[in-house]
Amino acid sequence: MPTDTRATRLAVLISGGGSNLRALLDVIAADAGFGGEVVVVGSDRTDAAGLEHARTAGVATVVEELPRGADAATRAAWEQRLTEGLAAHQPEVVVLAGFMRILSGGFLARWPDRVVNTHPSLLPAFRGAHAVREALAHGVKLTGCTVHLVDEEVDHGPILAQEAVPVLPGDTEVALHERIKAVEHRLLPACVRALCHDHVTVVGRRAEVRLAPDTAEQELHP
Ligand code: GRF
Repeated sequence: MPTDTRATRLAVLISGGGSNLRALLDVIAADAGFGGEVVVVGSDRTDAAGLEHARTAGVATVVEELPRGADAATRAAWEQRLTEGLAAHQPEVVVLAGFMRILSGGFLARWPDRVVNTHPSLLPAFRGAHAVREALAHGVKLTGCTVHLVDEEVDHGPILAQEAVPVLPGDTEVALHERIKAVEHRLLPACVRALCHDHVTVVGRRAEVRLAPDTAEQELHP
């Protein structure tokens, strides 16, 4: 958080149901010391159900659809429109909360070490769009979630926090994903809060994160 105690301006990008967006909005509303406010929610899909959470909270939305199979030039133009739409709201931190598109180095360079993603596995295991399905298929007994800074490789940047979630007998993909999301709903806001308070230091791949004591069960980067 800047020294003048002004709230850090947050953009959140979503593609789907937006339960992580909802959780972040709820945590911010309940925590006077959070140090951040969501100023814009962006999406690549007009039908993203989570946009409703933004509208209910009175947060501006920016929607830029990207057609399936778009070529490189179309993708670049799409990203430019999305970037400009977000930038108009002057965000300082960008939160990817179930955003299913890959962002270029140009986008990331605009918010260095300030684009954060939540992923439903214990990275580096099960990167990509089907992490929960692949963890189940592999037969792991523990999976979890990872909140990390975004770099140019998919699900790869410096890890801010991780937490394990058990795989239970008879689990379906939906049941396991819901159990993981319940943890994400706590861990992602905790990491965003740390970014708002400048409690994140990055050296190479290693991030040191000072999480508020009551917002995370464990800190894996003491
Ligand atoms: C989360 O599990 C996130 O890790 C993954 O997509 C899911 C988004 O869920 N990338 P929601 O839209 O926030 O409910």
